[in-house]
Amino acid sequence: MEKRERFSSRLGFILISAGCAIGLGNVWRFPYITGQYGGAAFVLIYLVFLIILGLPIMVMEFAVGRASQKSAARSFNVLEPEGTKWHLHGYACLAGNYLLMMFYTAVAGWMLSYVFKMASGEFVGLDSAAVGEVFNSLLAESGPMTFWMIAVTVICFAICSLGLQNGVERITKGMMSCLLIIMIVLCIRSVTLPGASEGLKFYLIPDFGKMIESGIGEVIYAAMGQSFFTLSLGIGAMAIFGSYISKDHSLTGESINICVLDTSVALMSGLIIFPACFAFDVDPGQGPGLVFVTLPNVFNQMSGGRLWGTLFFIFMTFAAMSTVIAVFENIISFSNDLFGASRKKAVLVNGILIILLSMPCVLGFSAWSGFAPFGAGSTIQDLEDFIVSNNLLPLGSLVYLLFCTSRYGWGWDNFIAEADAGKGVKFPKWARFYVTCILPLIVLFIFVMGWYDKFFK
Ligand code: PHE
Repeated sequence: MEKRERFSSRLGFILISAGCAIGLGNVWRFPYITGQYGGAAFVLIYLVFLIILGLPIMVMEFAVGRASQKSAARSFNVLEPEGTKWHLHGYACLAGNYLLMMFYTAVAGWMLSYVFKMASGEFVGLDSAAVGEVFNSLLAESGPMTFWMIAVTVICFAICSLGLQNGVERITKGMMSCLLIIMIVLCIRSVTLPGASEGLKFYLIPDFGKMIESGIGEVIYAAMGQSFFTLSLGIGAMAIFGSYISKDHSLTGESINICVLDTSVALMSGLIIFPACFAFDVDPGQGPGLVFVTLPNVFNQMSGGRLWGTLFFIFMTFAAMSTVIAVFENIISFSNDLFGASRKKAVLVNGILIILLSMPCVLGFSAWSGFAPFGAGSTIQDLEDFIVSNNLLPLGSLVYLLFCTSRYGWGWDNFIAEADAGKGVKFPKWARFYVTCILPLIVLFIFVMGWYDKFFK
């Protein structure tokens, strides 16, 4: 049998898994959702969910990956008791990774295009309306948007084609290190702006009154969804990196490291964005356009804004691309596990496939905007996001959870033996009742809430 590739170092594993987790979820989704749901109170609930919900499920995904030494496409076949059907989830994982990329590459393309727009001075001297227009015309013209989407896809697959250690590990490590440095610089710049303290208050001092205004149920639901999305759980995206490591370190310890990194980046993006919004009188609660429509305004009013703005969008692009590379690595590994395809062949075929599959999302903003799956103004992107974030991620997490805790699946003893193998923090034994009986109910609750919210409210 061909030997499975390995990461060259533990740091490589941690930074790549963190790179998969740290993405648009942290730098784009987290700030605007926090803005919409009233700031610090939302952040507090989100942090609680990361610990009680995300962390244990991440340990389970890594355990399944490491024990099976396969991608999600085949891991259940290796571990499931004979005659059971857990392996069907492999197809859901496969679909989930493709579907995620069908809209993620487009948004990553927006980020990349903003690096160039910022650097070339396209925003200099524009008023707010004109800045908004730049974003609208990016959406409305399918040509440039297709170009940027293809650029992201080609760059990221090219990196994957260099191999696990030489491509994915080396480049992601570099990008993640730059990202952390750029973030710290931007944080310092933002919190030292005159007038920044109002933003810090909004972001750091919980105001539960505001939360009640938005509806507690909705805030809790949004916080739970965000914790799955940001940690990349449910579709095997993380599991694969478990299959590339040795049994030297316990998985709970590694998962804590990754969650801490992911959370720091999300919290720092808030620290960059909110003080800047308040300093320049920009509404933080305006939704998905937050970084595209408001921040160029902020940079316009800031001295040296063109430089800071360019750095900001480089950092956004790195975060998004590290996720795209990680998910492409999954997709390549699926082709390898299912069809025995070589890395080069898998890159070529999937590169073309992903570009074609991303087209509906791109066209959904222009030629196909007549198709509004959730009513006027909604897009194909909303539909794809809904299928992944509100369905495949929570349900998939539930499958991993039941697989690891139920005796009809892989079972608790196998899971604990795998999770605890190696040095470091062990999975707490007292948590067995909680993860077996309570956690699945919470996840189920998220799922039902998601549907209720979308269709019956
Ligand atoms: N965690 C990624 C982000 O924050 C998104 C993601 C979700 C990636 C699910 C893989 C699987 O952008």
